[in-house]
Amino acid sequence: MIKEFMTQDHRECDNLYAPLEEALMQADFEKALELFVPFRNAMLKHFAMEEEVLFPKMEEFMGGGEGPIYVMKMEHSQIKSIINQLGEAIEAKNKDKALGLGETFMIMTQQHNMKEEQILYTMAEQLPIEKEQTLEEMKKVEV
Ligand SMILES: [Fe+2]
Ligand SMILES: [Fe+2]
Repeated sequence: MIKEFMTQDHRECDNLYAPLEEALMQADFEKALELFVPFRNAMLKHFAMEEEVLFPKMEEFMGGGEGPIYVMKMEHSQIKSIINQLGEAIEAKNKDKALGLGETFMIMTQQHNMKEEQILYTMAEQLPIEKEQTLEEMKKVEV
């Protein structure tokens, strides 16, 4: 159920990005900025659920080091940086730059999400972590 919940959350983040891209294509920067805020917050909350709750619990059984969780965290920081740059490009009303960053965001995020959905979340389901409690703790994360 961790896998289902987090996979669903990936879809919800995607769904927040789609109308933002739409607004950018129409060069409607006011609307884009309005849509950017909930999109960024949803992404940051998703990353925080993983970094503050799910990953530490998994690491208790998998160990830290430069394994798959380390790679996921590196990708989070790369994606966060793209999101920040996207926000700046929207504020600067730079349509081409914003759309280019949006494209990069989508590619990186799709690849990242696929790895989590196919590998990481499946591992989480198999590890002896408290599933219900983990879900509850993730839902309570605030950013
Ligand atoms: Fe992630
Ligand atoms: Fe994720």
